[in-house]
Amino acid sequence: MLSEPVVPVLPPTPANIQRAAAAILNGELVAMPTETVYGVAANVFDEEAIQKLFRAKGRPSDNPLIVHISDFVQLEEIVSEWTPEADILANRFWPGPLTLVVKKAEAVPNVVTGGLDTVGVRMPDHPVALELIEAAGVPLVGPSANRFMHLSPTRAENVDPGLAKHLAMVLDGGPCKVGLESTVIDVTQDPPRILRPGGVSRGEIQAALGRPLGQVPHDGMRRSPGMYARHYAPVAPVILVEAVGSGEAGLVFGEKANERQIRMPNDPRAYGASLYDALHRLDSMEVPAIYVQLPPDDVNWEAIHDRLRKASAQPE
Ligand code: TXA
Ligand code: MG
Repeated sequence: MLSEPVVPVLPPTPANIQRAAAAILNGELVAMPTETVYGVAANVFDEEAIQKLFRAKGRPSDNPLIVHISDFVQLEEIVSEWTPEADILANRFWPGPLTLVVKKAEAVPNVVTGGLDTVGVRMPDHPVALELIEAAGVPLVGPSANRFMHLSPTRAENVDPGLAKHLAMVLDGGPCKVGLESTVIDVTQDPPRILRPGGVSRGEIQAALGRPLGQVPHDGMRRSPGMYARHYAPVAPVILVEAVGSGEAGLVFGEKANERQIRMPNDPRAYGASLYDALHRLDSMEVPAIYVQLPPDDVNWEAIHDRLRKASAQPE
């Protein structure tokens, strides 16, 4: 079998980070590690590069990108209105897995935000991502390094091969320690509301703000671009069950009954850190279906329930 043309997967040495930054400033795309999942980095101000990124991912143009910064000073370039609550959350959780949706500055191209007047911003908690942003000298967009609707990569080797063809290189920062995407919170609303549960829990955010968060209305899926019923899905169909049959492949909490079952941690953080990797592993075994034993019905498992629900939803 002929092998695919390979994209260089490079260790994040200072020289390679400089090369990656130069490629980005030259309009190219680079996969970078973050603490949540691997992202595809491009210069936020380079509209052509952003368009190339949407095409490479097969992503609808109305699905906005998150802008990644390495320093609070960069907020001035991309945000027009910074609220006291945005400030509290950024100070408490950055660098970290929290994306704040705020009013955008003129300078942020409309292609980045899918035409919205808001922009999602976060400061990732990964030295390689921070060094890359700093070396490029511009904020970087960073959608997850998967094709639209598919599973996000939490290791360099899981960056989607179809997407990798469009990249100048992959910087290998090892496995991602959070393993689920950032929590996206809209702080232009009062009270702020979570659009996507993720690495920072609802409880942690409520504790920082000292008040409860708003609910996303039932038509939130239509109102908020980028929220789809099916998403984060492996190739094999995902089926959520109370108990996984002893002959089935899947994710279990207790003892595994066969070699195509993976025993998952009982703690939501540890579970989240290994979920995508476990689904990638089952996909690479080419199992016909992935049965997932439902985690506890508890708010601390909110982000995991969200991903499992989306991974198991039928294509629209
Ligand atoms: O953890 C993460 O956030 C990863 C890493 C690589 O940083 N990135 C990521 O990006 O998950 P992406 O593009 O796969 O998901 C971005 C999400 C989408 O659901 C999008 O709709 C939402 O953020 N989003 C971005 N900007 C928004 C805005 N202005 N208003 C509402 N939602 C927004
Ligand atoms: Mg994504």
